[in-house]
Amino acid sequence: MWKHEKIEKNATLLLVLSFLVVTVGGIIEIVPLFYLQNTIEKVEGMRPYTPLELAGRDVYVREGCYTCHSQMIRTMRDEVDRYGHYSLAAESMYDHPFQWGSKRTGPDLARVGGRYSDEWHRQHLIKPVSVVPESIMPTYPHLADTELDLDTIGAKLKANATVGVPYSDEMIARARADLLAQATGEGDVDGLAERYPKAQARDFDGDPARVTEMDALVAYLQMLGTLVDFTSYEPRTQANLR
Ligand code: HEC
Repeated sequence: MWKHEKIEKNATLLLVLSFLVVTVGGIIEIVPLFYLQNTIEKVEGMRPYTPLELAGRDVYVREGCYTCHSQMIRTMRDEVDRYGHYSLAAESMYDHPFQWGSKRTGPDLARVGGRYSDEWHRQHLIKPVSVVPESIMPTYPHLADTELDLDTIGAKLKANATVGVPYSDEMIARARADLLAQATGEGDVDGLAERYPKAQARDFDGDPARVTEMDALVAYLQMLGTLVDFTSYEPRTQANLR
């Protein structure tokens, strides 16, 4: 009893001991996350974003889409029923910064890829109420009129490589050409598909004459959730660990 009184009456001692307790607790909670297989597992299908998808992702971040949309399906039944398989840690492994989000004014977008046509996305982004009459989502008509900045794309890949995304020198050198091939469906589309499996190449914004921010954003949305094939995915559990 008396010992506790001593601690409570000595602010410095209380501070030091509280700090120790929090440190030990923190280590016990955090350290296992670096060793648990299912938080660091590599999942088949995940690949770095194509230059066009990466540019679209930047538009997504710049426009603040994450303030209303999450990209993380939780392991709850209602979420899985509505959005599909719950999100895996590996699915955001190339996101810098990640886009999990903390608020859903609109639906989760982690698996929106392939759910709508490009045309639907264009209409929706230009004027959401034109396709969803009760929508409160803001309009983004400028995306279709703004040409995509092609000069910085190599630097963007390089920056991501610096923080650990496995972009090879070849990918960085071909970034601009790969971007154009994906946004037009012309050029070295086979090379693109080799470097980035499952990359969808076509004119996304309905304006074949130009490569706009709309091309990039729609390409990004159409890719979301399509990389991992969940028909063959088996979660690593304690039971099936090697
Ligand atoms: C102010 C909040 C808000 C912001 C900001 C916002 N959205 Fe939305 N979004 C919504 C709401 C609400 C809906 C549901 C109604 C609808 O479909 O329009 C929605 C729906 C969507 C859908 C359809 C999802 C589905 O599964 O039906 C997509 C795709 C989408 N938003 C993309 C975006 C993108 C890309 C941006 C950024 C350029 C963005 N949103 C910014 C509120 C927002």
